[in-house]
Amino acid sequence: MDKKNLERDIEDYLITSMLDELPPPAVAEAEGTTVTDIEGDDYLDCFSGISVTNLGHRNDRVEERAIEQIKKYVHVCDYKYQVPIAVELAKKLADVTPGDLQKTFFGNSGAEAIETALKLSRKSTGKHELIALMCSFHGRTLGTLSVTGQAARRRYDMGPYLSSVSFAPAPYCFRCPFDKEYPECDINCARFLEHVIEYSSSNEVAAFIMEPILGEGGIIVPPTEYFEIAEDILDSKEIKFIADEVQTGFGRTGRLFGIEYFDIEPELMTMAKGIANGFPISACTATSEIGDSFEPGDHLSTFGGNPVSAAASLATIEEMEKNNIPQKAEKKGVKARKILEELKDDHELIGDVRGKGLMLGIELVRDDKAPAVEEAEKIVKMMRGKKILIGKGGVSGSVLRVQPPLIITEEEINFLSRKLEDCLNELR
Ligand SMILES: Cc1ncc(COP(=O)(O)O)c(C=O)c1O
Repeated sequence: MDKKNLERDIEDYLITSMLDELPPPAVAEAEGTTVTDIEGDDYLDCFSGISVTNLGHRNDRVEERAIEQIKKYVHVCDYKYQVPIAVELAKKLADVTPGDLQKTFFGNSGAEAIETALKLSRKSTGKHELIALMCSFHGRTLGTLSVTGQAARRRYDMGPYLSSVSFAPAPYCFRCPFDKEYPECDINCARFLEHVIEYSSSNEVAAFIMEPILGEGGIIVPPTEYFEIAEDILDSKEIKFIADEVQTGFGRTGRLFGIEYFDIEPELMTMAKGIANGFPISACTATSEIGDSFEPGDHLSTFGGNPVSAAASLATIEEMEKNNIPQKAEKKGVKARKILEELKDDHELIGDVRGKGLMLGIELVRDDKAPAVEEAEKIVKMMRGKKILIGKGGVSGSVLRVQPPLIITEEEINFLSRKLEDCLNELR
């Protein structure tokens, strides 16, 4: 199929709200950090299918384990059958996740894991209110949009959303909601949680949900003290903490889980994206006490814990452990960040460079610090023209996102930064 026909067919046959004037590559194959389109052009993939193929495309170990499982069986359903490989994965997750996280419910997407976590937090506490962050993103289902703190994604004509959700200020130091500087700010954003709880509609708060680093919101990294302060407040009100690791999980930030950078133990954790290096599966892992609160009939997903995806996930975690992938990503991230910070020194368009590991954000600004939205859009397209795929995020869309497969080489990082510099020069 040629590209023109494909584009027409996409318009005619796919329901999508993500059409772009410069169509992205039509992928024929992908390997490692390279995506090849149907016209034979190679692209350096610095977005990993939105932070999914952390081990690179077509990792050998993952592929072999998945094929091995395909030859045994592809689907049953853990409702009427026992699925040993999914149980093996649940045991592994209990082992690698922090603190007392122990029992897992498997779904297919990040949103589904979060729906599960929200239900479990309500069921286990008997309370119903939820607190999330401004700038957060937790998915596109109605429940997950309800806890997403971005008006652009919570369009009014698809609501109403869940009531009983309150939003706390994001720890967005570059655009501090209190107009303060770190550390003199005394981490006001974390302390303010107390007020949000106090003034929530009936003060019946079941859970606080937060990404350890806000991804779609523009790679926002909380100050180290944030979670320590938040934990004290949450504990005093018996509110469960849900760490949404959908985007930060599986080595992306330089640790297996982003929350490992902070001093807090979540009671629920949601995982998807990088969990199986591209095979669809998600997990909501909770303490035993919370996990046991579901009663018969409370929750189910037909495809949840798919055996092929479970095999791929076990192989993904094994590969990460055997080859120290998160630790290597941390080191590469430090170097990449340094290079990007040097670019910032030479280009006023770059207002901030932030992130951990290979979850990096470059916030573009105009003179008055206004978000440089059009410039960000242009750079993503220019980079595509230079055969490099990067992402974009932030509440107004002014943050470039660099989230490559964690196996990216230093040479490739240098290549990316040279091309980015070319784009910045062309925009001057
Ligand atoms: C932090 C976070 N949570 C949840 C989701 C939703 O995941 P999915 O698209 O798999 O439903 C995303 C997706 O980008 C995410 O970044």
